[in-house]
Amino acid sequence: MSGKAEEWQMARRKKGTSRRSKASLTCQDHGCGQDEVNTKKTLLRIRETMSELKCEDFWLDWKKLLLLSSPVTASAPSPEDGALELPVDQQEKGSDGTTDPGLECVCYGLGSFSSCVSARYQLAMLLLLLETLQIPPRLCCVFDPVFSAGETDVLRQLDLSVLTENEEGKRLTKRPTIFYLMHCGKALYNNLLWRNWKRETLPLLTIIGNSFSGIQERTVEREFQRDYGYITQAVAVCDERPLPCPPRLLDVFNDTAVITFPPGGLSKLPQSTWAAPAEPRYEHCPDLEIIRRDGHS
Ligand SMILES: C[S@@+](CC[C@H](N)C(=O)[O-])C[C@H]1O[C@@H](n2cnc3c(N)ncnc32)[C@H](O)[C@@H]1O
Repeated sequence: MSGKAEEWQMARRKKGTSRRSKASLTCQDHGCGQDEVNTKKTLLRIRETMSELKCEDFWLDWKKLLLLSSPVTASAPSPEDGALELPVDQQEKGSDGTTDPGLECVCYGLGSFSSCVSARYQLAMLLLLLETLQIPPRLCCVFDPVFSAGETDVLRQLDLSVLTENEEGKRLTKRPTIFYLMHCGKALYNNLLWRNWKRETLPLLTIIGNSFSGIQERTVEREFQRDYGYITQAVAVCDERPLPCPPRLLDVFNDTAVITFPPGGLSKLPQSTWAAPAEPRYEHCPDLEIIRRDGHS
């Protein structure tokens, strides 16, 4: 794990001491170290973890909720059995001739999955989500500044698209996209919302990540409003559906929700919010919970 990530994680735990949340548990809490990655063994473990998750009752609930919440599949027939049949006009052919579901995925902040059990479970869950929503792995971009070269190699072997640039979450969405941000820093969510802060664009986003209302509860109100203005506004109008999690996997999946932005809710925000939304600067955040482009957190 890089020095920056260690500093970042220490800062996060310190802040959580007053109102401890399970969401603040990180790889360090599990005593994980950064070893050389054994690609074959890591891939095997990920596949084993996928098989394990598939046998869990809560996975069936996740699957149902995701199919119901996804901007593309919400209108598709029979989500009960996980069958995904899109109308022909919503399907596109990829360059390899396979059918794209019209849905993409972006995953930020997975963590060091070769050494950290939580991150491995989260990666296995991501792969199950892609499978269920029929998103080809190449249409899923992943980024975490702590990925080692070995982990990047594993991700590429899984056919995922590893980003090489730290976007700080500021990715503009052009088509329906699932954003998978498990236990990520508030600034990552806030940046993502800012970049897509348009009445027509926000409904394209489905976020699987920390519950916004949970974040609000754990943050001092004055700081929440001052530093995380986009989450502050979104929390009032988004649709948030909690995802269940068994007690033994609380550290991995607690406080997770599917968050969507129905147009009806967005229309309740004042018109003024959409005009020239200001880029977040976090000038008053001494311990910003994300690693920035310049390497500072
Ligand atoms: C609290 S940890 C969560 C790790 C893992 N998902 C878990 O639940 O154990 C937050 C993660 O966000 C990552 N992160 C920080 N800045 C980031 C950025 N700019 N883009 C993507 N990920 C970032 C950190 O490196 C770290 O792995």
